[in-house]
Amino acid sequence: MAIENKKLVTSKAVLHDKFGRKLNSLRISITQKCNLKCFYCHREGEVASDNEMTKEEIAQIAKIAYQLGMKKVKLTGGEPLLREDLPDIISEIAEYSDEVSLTTNGVLLEKNVETLSDAGLKRVNVSLPSLVPERFKNITKKDFVEQVKDGIEAAVQNNLCPVKINMVMLKGINVDEIPNAIDFAQEVGAILQLIEFEPIQPENYAYWKTFHYDPALIEYWLKKRAVSIQENALHKRKRYILKKNSDPVIVEVVKPMHNSIFCQNCTRLRVTSDGKLKPCLLRNDNLVNIIALIRQGASSNELEEAFKEAARLREPYWRGENGKCS
Ligand code: 5AD
Repeated sequence: MAIENKKLVTSKAVLHDKFGRKLNSLRISITQKCNLKCFYCHREGEVASDNEMTKEEIAQIAKIAYQLGMKKVKLTGGEPLLREDLPDIISEIAEYSDEVSLTTNGVLLEKNVETLSDAGLKRVNVSLPSLVPERFKNITKKDFVEQVKDGIEAAVQNNLCPVKINMVMLKGINVDEIPNAIDFAQEVGAILQLIEFEPIQPENYAYWKTFHYDPALIEYWLKKRAVSIQENALHKRKRYILKKNSDPVIVEVVKPMHNSIFCQNCTRLRVTSDGKLKPCLLRNDNLVNIIALIRQGASSNELEEAFKEAARLREPYWRGENGKCS
């Protein structure tokens, strides 16, 4: 049995925002660089910047967050595997975090999976917008679908589980592939997450409407085929259990748009690749510039204050009975 030998980092009271929501997970973008050019990508809602944090700065932010109750860390990008120091970043954060996970496009996953697992990575989410090579190329501008599929399989083999396949549903582009994506998830032993398309720029609704697919339609389809349906108590997110040849597969539907329940249950704080605390994917007018404080040599107490300020600025984007932004 592996002996956990974690650094002793003491925890304080868990941070809450004004709406009573706990902050218990941190989503850190570590680069904006990417080796795919997906037309639908929201780029984690970031403003363009190439001023990346160093691995020491990332670790320092994760440590303060841990002390304030954010015990799970998800690393994202851009494409996080483009950073050569990713294993070092993971191993440093894994010293004290309860779970370090990664969202990746999967292109470089197969050849790095063992190193990442050895560094302390627990789980991965892999984006897969299409299984059809020409479509994958149209969507991502690159011909890498086989690498991504191999990466997903390698992640399952290396127990980075549950491996989740992220498929953003795009009207007229990939929704007809959902049954095939379910079969693929079942074959490899992954969970399929069907994600509602979110706008790239919150104000760009015309573009959003062109590709937005109403998740209610797929939920109706899944409900008819599911052998059972579970509801995540915390996020009220439904999981449909389907079976083919008696093997089960889990399909989750993520509905972030016009959904006050989604926001009510959001416990995440983001960090941009250039070191700003970001309370909401869809907003850039309430960032807290923690990296400036770090670079000025601020104390732990001052950095904790920056987190508290981000918690104070945190508001549900969608709220009210009708789910409208107010
Ligand atoms: N809408 C919803 N989800 C998106 N992602 C990227 N762009 C969008 C979008 N416009 C998701 C993908 C990817 C993760 C980092 O963000 O699923 O895996």
